[in-house]
Amino acid sequence: MNMESDFHMAKGEGETSYINNSRIQQKALLETEVVLEKAVREVRMDLHQPVMTAVDLGCSSGKNTLFFVSKVIKVLGHDSDEKSRCNPVELQFFLNGLPGNNFNHVFRSLERFKESITARHKENTPLPPFYIAGLPGSYYTRLFPRQSCHLFHSSFCLHWRSRVPAGLEEGGREYLNEGNIYIAKTTPAGVAELYQRQFQNDMLLFLKLRYEELVLGGQMVLTFLGRKYEDIYNNGYLNHPWGLLARSLQSLVEDVRKP
Ligand SMILES: C[S@@+](CC[C@H](N)C(=O)[O-])C[C@H]1O[C@@H](n2cnc3c(N)ncnc32)[C@H](O)[C@@H]1O
Repeated sequence: MNMESDFHMAKGEGETSYINNSRIQQKALLETEVVLEKAVREVRMDLHQPVMTAVDLGCSSGKNTLFFVSKVIKVLGHDSDEKSRCNPVELQFFLNGLPGNNFNHVFRSLERFKESITARHKENTPLPPFYIAGLPGSYYTRLFPRQSCHLFHSSFCLHWRSRVPAGLEEGGREYLNEGNIYIAKTTPAGVAELYQRQFQNDMLLFLKLRYEELVLGGQMVLTFLGRKYEDIYNNGYLNHPWGLLARSLQSLVEDVRKP
């Protein structure tokens, strides 16, 4: 599987689509909004140019997609201090996702978003001018010129690896991970190490790339799933659903293989 070209959330707008099944992700956005607000204010304080470039990495599509954009606009719209009045800032947003992301849906929702945010905004505090662009590509590659971004945001994305760990899909060996799709109780230690190494490589690469792209004094707000316990075989309540999912997938594969 090529993550960059093949990977995407469940498409469409139906019952099983990501758009209609992203409440946990929405909860994460709401729980971290205070952190985001603080970062936006601090970036604004340090800004020495008229344009702030803000990026949502792994934006997906649906209700959550424009949460980041609306939050940044609201914070800057409400803060009418001396600096904001004398030097009003313009906002350039980039919504990043893998090429298979439903950008059509995102683009179609922009007009309605602009109307609703303008209607909701109080007249005495002018809305900062903002511009929104889509940016297809993996955040495990360079996405921007050097020192050109002020704020990176990413929610519920960075736990996705850039690839199946090297070594896991080689040689056509089957069930190297004992049929698990994750680090589960029966995962061999060597396989767990492959996942860990892949995470370390991906994260290091991600941080190096964003370091290149951020301006001095820029900030990142990154929210992603992690493990609660040192023991990597213990992932609390998540072990059970992943195990069930792995078994369901396996039985589907067996069905397909039956002569
Ligand atoms: C669970 S969704 C979260 C979407 C959105 N941020 C939210 O809070 O609802 C994860 C998103 O990350 C994207 N993603 C995963 N790996 C990526 C990568 N390497 N580069 C860009 N986007 C990626 C997926 O395509 C998917 O849209």
